[in-house]
Amino acid sequence: MIIAANLKTNLTRSATHSYINELELCTQQSAQEVIVFPATSSLDSYTTIITIGAQNAYPVEKGAFTGEIGLEHLEEFGIKTILIGHSERRHILGESQEFISKKFHFFKEQGFKIVYCVGEPLEIREGSKEDMLAYLSKQYEGIDTEYDNLIIAYEPVWAIGTGKIPTLEDIQDMHKELKQKSSAPLLYGGSVKVNNIKDILHVENVDGVLVGSAALYAEHFCSMIQAAQDLH
Ligand code: PGA
Repeated sequence: MIIAANLKTNLTRSATHSYINELELCTQQSAQEVIVFPATSSLDSYTTIITIGAQNAYPVEKGAFTGEIGLEHLEEFGIKTILIGHSERRHILGESQEFISKKFHFFKEQGFKIVYCVGEPLEIREGSKEDMLAYLSKQYEGIDTEYDNLIIAYEPVWAIGTGKIPTLEDIQDMHKELKQKSSAPLLYGGSVKVNNIKDILHVENVDGVLVGSAALYAEHFCSMIQAAQDLH
């Protein structure tokens, strides 16, 4: 299973160091693939078996892009994993599918492991299934779904940070649909918690989870890694 933590705009660099150290202890005996996405200013050269990824970077080596970081800044820390298409970047930061696909291709060329997020907002979910699938299909436009270092995360926007999750049947149904678009590992994300992770990981075609708020405490995230371990 792939168990990933998106720390978003949380945990300073020193807090992230303590976090990674704590995770290291619970990950050592685990066969799970653990990925952590720290805040940009908390990226560093961590000595760890955990994969460290960037939440974002501009698709350029370096240059005049105020406020952004480029490939050079990731290379400084040996980072080869990136999150692309997260709903907060699509909806709050206004990233278009065209730009997202440009970013995807840049980091694909560099051989990065890409965790690519898709998901529908509430008004789309409340419409027909056909419209919902059409909406999600647009998020695959310009994306190489056969890229061998690709992981996809299905994250319904209305489930992110809200404590609401789709029913297990709905997760199963959506994962079945999305597996037809790409055979890449498919994570579920959106209000995954210590008390629901086991049920979610049991769902067919769920290859792991992408966790936000519930992963902010290392102890909780360790319980989630353990829950994945217990499935085997
Ligand atoms: P959440 O966030 O677990 O807080 O819902 C998930 C995500 O945004 O990846």
